Amino acid sequence: MQLLKDRILKDGVVKPGNVLKVDSFLNHQMDIAFINELGKEFKARFASQPITKILTIEASGIGIACIAAQYFHVPVVFAKKAQSINLDGEMYTSKIESFTHKKVYDVIISKKFLTPEDHVLIIDDFLANGCALIGLIDIVNKSGAVLEGAGIVIEKGFQSGGQRIRDMGVHLESLAIIDHMTDSEVCFR
Ligand code: G4P
Repeated sequence: MQLLKDRILKDGVVKPGNVLKVDSFLNHQMDIAFINELGKEFKARFASQPITKILTIEASGIGIACIAAQYFHVPVVFAKKAQSINLDGEMYTSKIESFTHKKVYDVIISKKFLTPEDHVLIIDDFLANGCALIGLIDIVNKSGAVLEGAGIVIEKGFQSGGQRIRDMGVHLESLAIIDHMTDSEVCFR
């Protein structure tokens, strides 16, 4: 998506460790008119899928998912990150081992909000090694819902997540895929 690539080139900042900061417009301060265009693009890319629910993970995915959801006219459910979980049978859980954040955490979703009747689109801001996305896919599978696809704003194509998700047969749409980055430039695929 050219609008997104242009914005990353204009306002993105590359930090040591192959981290791209986009916090001036996407995941800290949020440019709503701009993110609205991302929402329309997600709708266009998944227009033929019978989506009933958008699923994301706290924190940064929530705002983006909510704006996109207005074009799908469906609710947003976000997975909560939990340090310790009380397994009372009312929650779907999955363990996520984040390489990026170097920690392990559980994500939980109430069984009330994901059922076998649902057709789910997962939306998130970044795809790096894909651990968060794989955790969400695991929960969709446990719920019996149909996974219609995953929409990602920025895929770091030089990390393994995109390949892992596509190899699972998931319909993955990334609005920008970064091929490589250096201190001074970001190159797209
Ligand atoms: P992982 O398997 O390496 O852990 O990567 P994953 O794709 O699951 O992404 C893990 C988290 O790291 C995500 O945040 C993602 O947004 C963030 N992340 C990865 N690479 C970058 C990057 O280059 N720039 C920025 N800004 N974030 C990056 P999260 O767990 O969803 O947490 P939150 O930030 O939404 O709270």
